[in-house]
Amino acid sequence: MGEALLTSQILDGKMMARRVLERVREEVSDFQKRAGRPPSLTVVRVGDDPASRVFVGRKMKACAATGITASEEHLSETVSLDDLCRLLRSLNQNPALDGILVQLPLPSHLPVSVVTAEISPAKDVDGFTPANMGRLTLGTPKLAPCTPLGVVEMLRQGGISVSGKHAVIVGRSSIVGKPLSLLLLHMDATVTLCHSRTPDLDRHTRAADILVVAAGRPGMIKAHHVKEGAVVIDVGINRIGDKLLGDVAFDEVSQKASALSPVPGGVGPMTVAMVCRNTVLAAGQRLSGLCDGTKGV
Ligand code: GUN
Repeated sequence: MGEALLTSQILDGKMMARRVLERVREEVSDFQKRAGRPPSLTVVRVGDDPASRVFVGRKMKACAATGITASEEHLSETVSLDDLCRLLRSLNQNPALDGILVQLPLPSHLPVSVVTAEISPAKDVDGFTPANMGRLTLGTPKLAPCTPLGVVEMLRQGGISVSGKHAVIVGRSSIVGKPLSLLLLHMDATVTLCHSRTPDLDRHTRAADILVVAAGRPGMIKAHHVKEGAVVIDVGINRIGDKLLGDVAFDEVSQKASALSPVPGGVGPMTVAMVCRNTVLAAGQRLSGLCDGTKGV
């Protein structure tokens, strides 16, 4: 039997992110008319992680392009937990500020769970606070994490339906895998969440209609992990020398998948666009008094 080589639809995150940002620009303009000022975001960066510098730079640039006022608070690697929390409390109390984002990773003396819990849920554009994670779990999110939102938007723009599909996620991080499993569950997917201790990983991944890989292991997903015709979303960003590699072996998987996101130019730009979308969303929620008001202004 002749094997017909399938060529994947390439899920172009750069183009899809541009569409999101065009819409955000309109929403920024509407907000400006109602509030008399643009939505605003402060990004907190601790230390000098080179990747964080690049990611924060992209978020600031995207905000500027949509009319969001963005500023950066850059703190020393050695900042104390007390000083960082004091800064976050003062940002929480600033009525002219709509969004707060602490770029991860943090130095090891600053526990992520303690730091994120300091952020006012109303301003938590990353959706990482206990209140926003809880809301997501209950299926009533106000602000959800940006990378999972980016994956969902990529599926939407790619014309890929989720309801009734088997979605398999590789990676259980609080930033991607865990919140994405909840978003897809609430979109009526059957969800399998795999991780580093999952035996027979390929048995699970081969059952996926939609396979999302967020494990941080370059090229770990090969053709034999993928069902013919599956949709494959690669969340991996692995810097190998001067190259960016995803978690999916792109060339071989592209012979099998019906749709595939590249790295770079896939989920990365979608995450950035969702930071902007969440900022304008947070601004609108605060303006109309929809924030839950558990902390801050
Ligand atoms: N580091 C890697 N991904 C993310 C993210 O989505 N948000 C923040 N704040 N830091 C990150």
